[in-house]
Amino acid sequence: MERTQVGIVGAGPAGLLLAHLLHTEGIDAVVLEARSRQYVEQRVRAGVCEHTTVALLRDLGLAGRLDREGLPHEGFALRFDGADHRIDLAALTGKSITVYGQQEIVKDLIEARLATGHGIEFEAADVALHDLESESPRITWTDSSGVARELRCDVIAGCDGFHGISRQNIPTDLLTSYDHTYPFAWLGVLAQTPPSSEELIYARHERGFALHSMRSPEITRLYLQVDPGERLDDWSDARIWDELATRFTLDGGFTLREGPLLEKIITPLRSYVTETMRHGRLFLAGDAAHIVPATGAKGMNLAVADVRRLAPALVALLRKNDSAAADGYAEQCLSRVWRAEHFSYFMTTMLHRAPGADPFTDRLQLSQLRYVASSTAAATSLAENYVGLPFD
Ligand code: FAD
Ligand code: DHB
Repeated sequence: MERTQVGIVGAGPAGLLLAHLLHTEGIDAVVLEARSRQYVEQRVRAGVCEHTTVALLRDLGLAGRLDREGLPHEGFALRFDGADHRIDLAALTGKSITVYGQQEIVKDLIEARLATGHGIEFEAADVALHDLESESPRITWTDSSGVARELRCDVIAGCDGFHGISRQNIPTDLLTSYDHTYPFAWLGVLAQTPPSSEELIYARHERGFALHSMRSPEITRLYLQVDPGERLDDWSDARIWDELATRFTLDGGFTLREGPLLEKIITPLRSYVTETMRHGRLFLAGDAAHIVPATGAKGMNLAVADVRRLAPALVALLRKNDSAAADGYAEQCLSRVWRAEHFSYFMTTMLHRAPGADPFTDRLQLSQLRYVASSTAAATSLAENYVGLPFD
């Protein structure tokens, strides 16, 4: 049987960063990933890195490409009633965010892991966890060559995202979770065309929300609020561009630059938190424990914040048999998690239009948007959450 100190399930931002943080402390880990390297490196997801996330990657010497290719943003626009209202992040908070694709961070972290001489077990099938309440839990899986493998660990980190198996290993009667669904989803596209604006635009329109973002000076990232039951087949490229143009309407005119669509995806919006982030020797981190609707751009940043706490907790546990930080891990993470949950809910409900929303709700939304656009206090509250609250 193989042996390691920390068995990490999932090579997303949480799993890969945890492996790196542990490596810098001399703790051994094995990372198991269900998908191929190519798949995880191409999977288009988050784009906004909080300043706290950027600072951590810089401290670790992992921000070389991020600093060269990432796009620093000091503000974004809220577009409603046909006008733009700039949220000046830098003036309101002294901080900024960086637009840098999650898959680029994943590529950088994979490269950093391989440079340490350690691999990643890609295409690991049938991953199963055992003996979680003992001091030597096990992971079994079938590797990419079809060979049955078994790994004994001191601790297992469940970093396998919302649909992973780790959380399912916690007995339901011990799992305390909170779930909220929204009556809409996002249709996300990547377009081969320069951004139509230098900054992000969060647009609230009677026909629903739209978001303009980017990945590089040549690639635009756009999102449309759609019904959760919507099928991609019903959204031709022409229909997507028409709908985007309508929702980004600006008094005085706005030109949306069109180009070939490189990818389309529909993602439901959902809020979920499990307050049980630990069961015996299993610790959950990132989307495995909580998800937020994407509007606040918090999901990946929360995954990073979790492992930033988990790594020192595991180091203390494994090196000094000191369990204080491990015992406090969930509680410490959850205060940031719930703040991000509220912020994401706030951004989502302020900007999306629920099907059949009554005129009262419409008026409340517009009142909130006008308040944020006109009050420095309200804008500062939004901005400090958006750039990322201080870590400690
Ligand atoms: P994941 O990235 O989901 O990684 C989990 C990994 O585990 C995956 O590689 C998966 O293949 C693997 N896995 C799953 N099951 C198994 C198994 N059984 N065995 C082995 N491996 C397994 N967040 C932001 O912060 N900013 C944004 O701007 C933002 N925008 C978003 C836009 C969209 C459209 C979407 C969908 C998400 C967005 N997010 C954003 C959220 C962000 O992408 C996630 O929160 C982030 O990926 C969480 O990282 P993670 O490592 O916890 O999980
Ligand atoms: C992006 C995604 C978000 O959820 C968001 O709020 C801002 C930007 C993006 O993919 O670029």
